[in-house]
Amino acid sequence: MDHFQYKNGILHAEDVPLPEIAAAVGTPFYCYSTATLTRHFHLFQDALSGMDHLVCFAIKSLSNQAILRTLGDLGAGMDVVSGGEYRRALAAGIPGDRIVFSGVGKTREEMAFALTHGIRQFNVESAEELRVLSEVAAGLGAVAPITLRVNPDVDAKTHEKIATGRKEDKFGVPISQAREIYRLAASLPGIEVVGVDVHIGSQLTDLAPFEAAFTKIADLTRILRADGHTIKRLDLGGGLGIPYARSNEIPPLPMDYGAMIQRVLGDLDVEIEIEPGRLISGNAGILVSSVLYLKQGEGRDFLILDGAMNDLIRPAMYGAYHDIVPVVEATAAVEQNPVDIVGPVCESGDTFAKGRDMPPLAPGDLVAFRSAGAYGAVMASEYNTRPLIPEVLVKNDQYAVIRARPSFDEIINRDTLPEWLQ
Ligand code: LLP
Repeated sequence: MDHFQYKNGILHAEDVPLPEIAAAVGTPFYCYSTATLTRHFHLFQDALSGMDHLVCFAIKSLSNQAILRTLGDLGAGMDVVSGGEYRRALAAGIPGDRIVFSGVGKTREEMAFALTHGIRQFNVESAEELRVLSEVAAGLGAVAPITLRVNPDVDAKTHEKIATGRKEDKFGVPISQAREIYRLAASLPGIEVVGVDVHIGSQLTDLAPFEAAFTKIADLTRILRADGHTIKRLDLGGGLGIPYARSNEIPPLPMDYGAMIQRVLGDLDVEIEIEPGRLISGNAGILVSSVLYLKQGEGRDFLILDGAMNDLIRPAMYGAYHDIVPVVEATAAVEQNPVDIVGPVCESGDTFAKGRDMPPLAPGDLVAFRSAGAYGAVMASEYNTRPLIPEVLVKNDQYAVIRARPSFDEIINRDTLPEWLQ
């Protein structure tokens, strides 16, 4: 459920009519709902309420500091995958002991920065990384709390580009090598083993792959404990999917996910960490765009928007489906006709939908892409020198710009001419 609903025929973000924001900030823009973010965070809190736990928001899905502050104030931890994300979390006021650092390619600088500013744990992804982390920590006279990310060789049955838990994927250490690498970890200076980590993919629509992976992690935990390691924490990653197309099957609910975790891991006496991104941020955001032209082609019509693939890359990159709805609600009587919905960028990949049934729209009309909060703004680029679009956060009847549209001068002046060209 989200808080982008029609009221008197006009799409609102909570209590704010979207045309009001569009008139103030211009289109395209991203708009987020505080109530939806809060609701989704609480769904996970409630789902795990029977267990000692921490919900660490995967900030790669939506990293604006206003979002991080909103969730941080509710008690969320953060999952970061770069020094930049780590700094964002700190800047948003998240204490280091609520930040977990994931990712296959952490640099020495990133490790040192996190060790000096506070870290809950590093999720280490290889023996090689473990040795480097040990050197960095020992060099600083610090101790790095770690989990090893284990690759359980489970197929998450999701899009090829976002499955991460099969043995052919670059992530984690093979579960068959886990004991040996834990032994190495225990022998290295500056390293403290605190748990096990797993993340098998994103946009999962079935609990079975999660259960298969968590069962393997439960077995491994017992073995590692018997080997003498302290496993007090299990980080189960993120990945729970959301419904993008309203007609599609409904992915499992956080409550059922939580019950499964309780059933599979409840007797281990461990603290549970999860790293959801999409389920918290996805339906908490929309992308609002204006119609530029309705172009009649041969045998098909094109609805040309001012938003493009550089603003929302998911359809071009993964063939992802997003609901696209008119901001002024179409009455049931109105005839819908198929159109290709495209942006102005100069490649055919800049297509959001083909043959999508839409009510009649005219230049200047507003449309909203639903479920665009996750992996929307964070994956945007300035391709075609199109400025990054503004982000707006709504709370009840208030809204605020939480990232402004840069001026063309700001973008162009980032380039510098070498001496020989001046
Ligand atoms: N933890 C780790 C280690 C991850 O790699 C990810 C996502 C998450 C947590 C959060 O997963 P979520 O709960 O959001 O599914 N750009 C793609 C999705 C990439 C996901 C990458 N990792 C998309 O737009 O679908």
